[in-house]
Amino acid sequence: MAEELTVSTSSDKEEKYNALLPQLDSLVGDEKDLIANLSNLAAALKQTMDFFWVGFYVVKGSQLVLGPFQGPVACTRIDFGKGVCGSAWKNKRTYIVPDVDEFPGHIACNATARSEIVLPAFKNNEVALVLDIDSNKLNDFDEVDEKALSQVIQILERLL
Ligand code: SME
Repeated sequence: MAEELTVSTSSDKEEKYNALLPQLDSLVGDEKDLIANLSNLAAALKQTMDFFWVGFYVVKGSQLVLGPFQGPVACTRIDFGKGVCGSAWKNKRTYIVPDVDEFPGHIACNATARSEIVLPAFKNNEVALVLDIDSNKLNDFDEVDEKALSQVIQILERLL
């Protein structure tokens, strides 16, 4: 695997994603260990995109349990259907939340988080985990993020 990322210094996030995505495949390489891969994917996204918080919640029974992440400490467990992450699990869809204060039931793990994107990853048509990214700016995520992060999810789904 490649142990260094060539990170674009562009201020344009689409260019940064375009530089990052091809490198994620080789970062994961033929490693089969999920924790190792989630850890490196979280680190690569944080390092390249400078997100406030980026990490994974993994489905375990009736809850999502905190997995590898980069950023401030976070909530450990989220119930099915609760918050943005639990909603992404329950409704099997991506959520872009421009203002977390406007999302009913949003779980504030960190008081400075202002906007959020959550994407589910599937195994056998069931949600296996979610990718959760928080920003400390309002309205920080759009279809550019959704498109690029969906490709991260595709890399991940090959490992599940
Ligand atoms: N805000 C999330 C909880 C996880 S933290 O953002 C890291 C939610 O409402 O599900």
